[in-house]
Amino acid sequence: MTLSDIIPSLRSSLRTPLTEFWPTTAAWAEHGDLRVGGVSMTSVAAAHGTPTYVLDEADLRQRCRDYLAAFGEGRVAYTGKALLSRGVARRLAEEGLRLYVGSAGELRVALAAGFPADRIVMYGSAKTPEDLDAAYAGRVGTIVVESLGEITRLAATAPPGQRVLLRVLGDTGTADGADCRFGLRIGSGEAAGAVARIVAQPRLRLVGVDCSVGHQLSRFSVYEREVREVMEFLAAMRARYGVVATELNLGGGHAVAYSGADPSLALAAFANRIRAVLRLAADRHDLPTPALTVSPGRAIVSRAGITLYRVVSVNRGPDGRHLVAVDGGMTDCPPGALCGGRHSAVLFGRTTCADPVRTTVVGRHNDSDDVVVPGLTLPSDVRPGDLLAVAGSGAYHHSRASNYHLVGRPPLLVVREGRISTLVRRESPDDLLRRDVDESGAA
Ligand SMILES: Cc1ncc(COP(=O)(O)O)c(C=O)c1O
Repeated sequence: MTLSDIIPSLRSSLRTPLTEFWPTTAAWAEHGDLRVGGVSMTSVAAAHGTPTYVLDEADLRQRCRDYLAAFGEGRVAYTGKALLSRGVARRLAEEGLRLYVGSAGELRVALAAGFPADRIVMYGSAKTPEDLDAAYAGRVGTIVVESLGEITRLAATAPPGQRVLLRVLGDTGTADGADCRFGLRIGSGEAAGAVARIVAQPRLRLVGVDCSVGHQLSRFSVYEREVREVMEFLAAMRARYGVVATELNLGGGHAVAYSGADPSLALAAFANRIRAVLRLAADRHDLPTPALTVSPGRAIVSRAGITLYRVVSVNRGPDGRHLVAVDGGMTDCPPGALCGGRHSAVLFGRTTCADPVRTTVVGRHNDSDDVVVPGLTLPSDVRPGDLLAVAGSGAYHHSRASNYHLVGRPPLLVVREGRISTLVRRESPDDLLRRDVDESGAA
């Protein structure tokens, strides 16, 4: 008999605390239920099935406001590849964000949501002709130039007066040591060559530069070095071509903590520090200070999203660890989402006094890398039919989900103040068959 058997009121206080890794409105409720946005996750699982992505609208909007408070109106863009649907785009537009789109598809969704075209930026190191045509037809405000060859194409096809940013790459490299392939190198002279070509094109209006220095970065130093290097480059460009940049986008890559061991980026301190570094560098080169903008994805949506799963089977691993298999896996919690499986997860929908035990949550796909959470503590009596919620799945989960095993992708729901609505419906076997051509001509 445990203490919570003797004093049942202790049960709720023994539950895993829903800390900063969970959406701001997440709270424990009666009978072990988990509420997000005032909605019972047990009833969501019953009504909508599992796996299901749930987005906390209050959390999403609060992150947008935190970013705007730190960087200022018009200075924050969201990078759509982290998560995009019409519903997401509409909410971001209402909050006053700009939007980075990386394909004709993302642009179509944004425009269908009524996202103002002049606040949209199209980027991409290998934009296709279809991407560029869609950008022109949609009258996107800005296009990021990311290769020399692209300048020739833009010069021939872009509408007159098209605003462009030049994606540059400093020589300081990325903090995480990743090989950064995106942008024209300053050190090699490639970036200067691009400026020379752009200013010679009457249709293109070069308004500034854009950078992307890595992902999951919590230290400011890599951004500071990039700012100094870029400002030195801009001073040289003014001297050589008379170009004065009015905008500097420092990209995203802001670290998000998925568990207690992870660092995150201290947003307000970061904004203040980078602004100060930028002002100093501008003064040093006697340049006007360009407007500092950022384009994070993960840091805006990651915490707002959770995934609900149902346990399908429970086995004991060779080391005694519990192996809990859920009804999703690598198809909805994809490797490469850079969360490294460090998610927090909880059992919900019932109370238990069982002892905690080390557990690995695996998926349904029979692959050795089909792991949702490699190591966490769950009650030892977890059984088939139980519900699990996994935190921090708002970014790069829905957008990177796949049809591997011909499993339909989960729906995306949004919750707020007791209301729930579907942003993207569950993909059915019929959806999958619709793309699969019946060669007999029967369908
Ligand atoms: C150019 C660019 N900017 C910003 C981002 C956003 O990165 P994150 O979601 O890590 O903030 C990405 C994502 O890959 C990107 O490619």
